Amino acid sequence: MSFSVDLMSDLHAELHADRLDYAALKKSDIAIVAGDLGPDPATSLAELRQIAAAYKTVLFVDGNHEFRKGLPDYVYNFNFDAVEEKLRQGIAQIPNVVYLRDKPFVKDGVAVIGRNGHWDYKMVKGYPRRRAIRECARILETDFNNAASFSKLARRDYYALRDQIIKFNRDPSIHTIVVVTHTVPRSELLKDAPPARQAIKGSSQMRHLLQYDAGKKIKFWLFGHQHDSRKQEIDGVLYHENPRGHNRDTAKGYKPSAVRLGA
Ligand SMILES: [Fe+2]
Ligand SMILES: [Fe+2]
Repeated sequence: MSFSVDLMSDLHAELHADRLDYAALKKSDIAIVAGDLGPDPATSLAELRQIAAAYKTVLFVDGNHEFRKGLPDYVYNFNFDAVEEKLRQGIAQIPNVVYLRDKPFVKDGVAVIGRNGHWDYKMVKGYPRRRAIRECARILETDFNNAASFSKLARRDYYALRDQIIKFNRDPSIHTIVVVTHTVPRSELLKDAPPARQAIKGSSQMRHLLQYDAGKKIKFWLFGHQHDSRKQEIDGVLYHENPRGHNRDTAKGYKPSAVRLGA
């Protein structure tokens, strides 16, 4: 049994004058939305409501932009727990949205699990972690400790996904696991960029999740964050990103990408 989902990410609602007509663009009943919807939780939730109005079910993971405080200064709110709680409460008001960080989605033997993923500053081989953190602090206009704190989230998300992968590997009713992260799951998928930029694109730990997938059930890994469309198979896993991005990243005519899940 298989079914189709529409993958979208990095909608960055505040950066586009033209609104997406989700009802007209949809190709599936289920949408997977992999983070970065707006410059703060309230804008992201408003966009999520638009998407939820067009789809039967929406599966959501937060991106790093959900942790910002909005325009005009675009700074981060490093009280991550408070932001997640705000998202959780907002999502609780939209009955057909699943916040994947709190619960997986299971249908027809397919388990969809997801977490933001964040970054650990170790994606780029040979680029010193402390230097990457200093650079990130400069880019985000914050201090070293705040910048470093993303690593904690990266670790937390890694372990949460690991536990779910182990659980669904043991579950004979599950034949396919779909992992959704906002950030890039392995360095082979990084687009060309200076190392300081690449270092904040994902977590070096994520690739180790595959070691816990004894039954080779992970067949899809859907992600976003680096604003580069790609579809690439590595060792039997299809890695796919379909970001809208900034105006400068994508040509006009952004569309959800339909992905058929399952056997
Ligand atoms: Fe983004
Ligand atoms: Fe992002």
